[in-house]
Amino acid sequence: MKIQSIAKLAHKFNPIIKLLPKSLQVLLHSSARLKFMDEFVKNTGASFVPDSKWQRTLWGLKFQSPLMNSAGMFKNGDGYDVVISQGAGGYIGGTSTYNPRTGNIKHGIKLPFITLPNSHVSINTLGLPNLGDEILSKKVITNNKTSPIGWSLMRSPDYEEHIGLENLIKSLWMYHDNPQIDFIEINESCPNISVNSENITNRLVYIAEHFLSKRTRHLPVVVKLSTDTGIEVLKQILDVLFQKRYDGVNLGNTSTNYSYTRQYISPTELALYDYYTKNFSGGIGGISLRDKSFILCDEAIKYREFIKPDYEFHVIRSGGVFGLDDIKASDAIGISMNQWYTGYFTNYLQNGGEVYKREFSS
Ligand SMILES: Cc1cc2nc3c(=O)[nH]c(=O)nc-3n(C[C@H](O)[C@H](O)[C@H](O)COP(=O)(O)O)c2cc1C
Repeated sequence: MKIQSIAKLAHKFNPIIKLLPKSLQVLLHSSARLKFMDEFVKNTGASFVPDSKWQRTLWGLKFQSPLMNSAGMFKNGDGYDVVISQGAGGYIGGTSTYNPRTGNIKHGIKLPFITLPNSHVSINTLGLPNLGDEILSKKVITNNKTSPIGWSLMRSPDYEEHIGLENLIKSLWMYHDNPQIDFIEINESCPNISVNSENITNRLVYIAEHFLSKRTRHLPVVVKLSTDTGIEVLKQILDVLFQKRYDGVNLGNTSTNYSYTRQYISPTELALYDYYTKNFSGGIGGISLRDKSFILCDEAIKYREFIKPDYEFHVIRSGGVFGLDDIKASDAIGISMNQWYTGYFTNYLQNGGEVYKREFSS
């Protein structure tokens, strides 16, 4: 059976699944996601190349469209050929950590996750499962590279902060040594780690001194922040990014602002939303982030125009991107690249491997 048909079938059964006890619903969503992803990464059948008018060049790297996956979709570096053959602008693997991690098991459920399809929202409490940087930094991501490859990594929460940072630096050098990797994204936005701007800026200074300023090849580094980041904190972080010559910012990651998101949840899905956020917490992706990511990017671009760094610094948007209208809105304010996760799979349900074709063939 085609992978898209499996996804459609699961979607069709959703009204029945909704009648089950909520713990069972979470179990079904979580295990279905794992099974689906196992099949999805093998599905390399598409072949769509967006018209050259959609190309974007960032840091001298040519992306075939202004839309690509966001981090976390391919944590172990699979799936490049799948999404690039569909027309994705580029690819990003990870988030990975120095040490291998199995991710969260909560209330007996491995890698908890739900989608709320009527609300266009996803919530995940995966907890950074990945094979670890020793293995992943050596991975051959594709034998058929046509578009840029980024890698997302973060300080492992399994170590005390300073050791974790030292390990992150070791990991950064490992990816520096992998010529397939064209750019790095440092994930400073895991929903399970509190956002404290002073800690973040200190870490960013440390990373700049021990890695950024010592790079011996062209390897742009961007920092991904949470969409819950306040404007003043964003400016403080941007000051450090400009001073230390980071190459960009990604705004941003999932939200843990459950009360804000609640207004976006369809009445038919509120009970499951409340149950999940109360029992599993987790990071929210999807439509409720559309305005947040847009406003944060807009602020970052205005601040960049005000500070005028004398080098190439890009603002990347992630959060609530669902299609061409979002890309046009991003283009209008100078966002350089868009990433999607929840929107990608929402569209995949309708269009299968033609997700990018639907957006960029017009
Ligand atoms: C299942 C899942 C896993 C994710 N894992 C990561 C991750 O490992 N690293 C990361 O930076 N973001 C991760 N994210 C966040 C997404 O990259 C994205 O920033 C967020 O979901 C907002 O985009 P969206 O509204 O298109 O979903 C994950 C999101 C989901 C739904």
